[in-house]
Amino acid sequence: MELEALKKIYAGYSGIYDALFKRFFYPRIRHAISTMNIDTGEKVLDVGVGTGLSLSLYPSGCDVVGIDLSSAMLRKAKEKVKKEGLSHIELLEMDAMSLKFADNSFDKVFISHVVSVVPDPHRVMSEVRRVCKDRGKVVIVNHFKSRNKIVARFEKIIDPISRKIGWRSDFCVDEFISLSGLKIDKILKLKKVDFWQLIFATNFKDEQDSPIPKGRA
Ligand SMILES: C[S@@+](CC[C@H](N)C(=O)[O-])C[C@H]1O[C@@H](n2cnc3c(N)ncnc32)[C@H](O)[C@@H]1O
Repeated sequence: MELEALKKIYAGYSGIYDALFKRFFYPRIRHAISTMNIDTGEKVLDVGVGTGLSLSLYPSGCDVVGIDLSSAMLRKAKEKVKKEGLSHIELLEMDAMSLKFADNSFDKVFISHVVSVVPDPHRVMSEVRRVCKDRGKVVIVNHFKSRNKIVARFEKIIDPISRKIGWRSDFCVDEFISLSGLKIDKILKLKKVDFWQLIFATNFKDEQDSPIPKGRA
């Protein structure tokens, strides 16, 4: 998916996004952020923050930067920041594949429902690893292709349609993990049968600690 096409799609969603998706997305976002153990003074990056479903969940003692490609989605997030007086949150229009932050700027990074939306998830993860500190925590919430062969076949069939409405439906979790360069701490689903997974990971920058062979990260 090209960036201009994505901008158009998410501009279209912005007014109805919360009504359509909050009931599905919010429980996992809440669980993920409450499990991130964000300490006072920590800097957190929320990649593809969208309409800001996550924003009220960040503790007021941390500093959060939310970035998104879509100005229309960000407008909704800015309304939440204003309405709820979330002065510890800054929102910026930015492409996740080319982050405008210095290396090692963040203690923790949260990425929900974004890695199967962006054109190049591995470039996003490379940028995330760069701006996240060594041994910083990265938490990803996403739908990945099912391990059930019948469901996976269905996801492959509907993939061309789902791309047209804003995301891939056949993204393989193993491929994502192996190319992300992250050390996975745990992966969980909130329910036994769940389309979405929560991935908790650590960003090791030292070569000797990294799970990824040199040259692949
Ligand atoms: C499905 S929404 C997820 C929003 C939010 N994280 C959530 O969980 O509700 C995907 C978001 O990713 C954003 N996005 C897509 N491509 C992006 C890119 N290259 N850089 C930054 N954000 C991007 C879209 O604009 C949209 O807001």
